[in-house]
Amino acid sequence: LKNYDERPIPSHVAIIMDGNGRWAKKRHLPRLMGHKAGVNAVENIVRAAKETKIPFLSLYAFSSENWNRPKEEVSGLISLFRLYFRNKARELKENDVRIRFAGRRDLFPQDLVDIMKDAEESTGDCRTMQLILCLNYGGRQEIVDAIKGITRESLSGKDLEINENTVRQFLYLPDVPDPDLIIRTSGELRLSNFWLWQASYSEFYFTDVLWPDFTGEEFQKAIQSYTKRDRRYGSVKT
Ligand code: IPE
Ligand code: IPE
Ligand code: MG
Repeated sequence: LKNYDERPIPSHVAIIMDGNGRWAKKRHLPRLMGHKAGVNAVENIVRAAKETKIPFLSLYAFSSENWNRPKEEVSGLISLFRLYFRNKARELKENDVRIRFAGRRDLFPQDLVDIMKDAEESTGDCRTMQLILCLNYGGRQEIVDAIKGITRESLSGKDLEINENTVRQFLYLPDVPDPDLIIRTSGELRLSNFWLWQASYSEFYFTDVLWPDFTGEEFQKAIQSYTKRDRRYGSVKT
């Protein structure tokens, strides 16, 4: 009878959505078809997370290193982001899901930046779940940007004591709790520059399932696995 000491569901689930390219390759399709199929998986998982009453879901959709991919793939991904946020913001709002973004926006085309801003603003009052899209996100960049912010404030005369809390205040989304659970699909066992600062005590769940095949059921398996973990934070069990 272990039920009573199982962990509660995680507050923040973060997902490295990997394997779209291999999913397409297996079907002799262009990589972009894999990314399209990945968008359907996003819709399923957003629904599953909301049903599971997860308050924060973050999705790694484009890393600061993904600019190194072929030009057509990058522009195809940008078109998919455009389509998704333009078409889905209203539905997310109806479901009381707030959309937020983490990452540097300056390299994206202005029309996408505008669409992202609209999506954030139109869902700004939604409270049931926060959906965080990591777009042109890099964990090292985020830390560099935090250092820049701290330096700027200090030079402008503000007397800042530098501690962990100060650093956190200068991250992209300081109010979002650290991910309790980080899921990575497609069998790769690495962080690839995701949530570097925030991941220090995250639990990890890896699965060989490719992102377009990742279903609500697979998501529940990850949550189940999490509920059985023993998080010690460097301490000992009393
Ligand atoms: C993840 O799938 C999506 C993005 C990084 C945008 P990949 O495109 O990395 O798929 P694989 O790893 O090549 O299979
Ligand atoms: C990580 O996947 C980034 C996203 C899922 C957006 P990659 O496929 O880019 O990572 P690596 O290159 O295999 O580490
Ligand atoms: Mg990959």
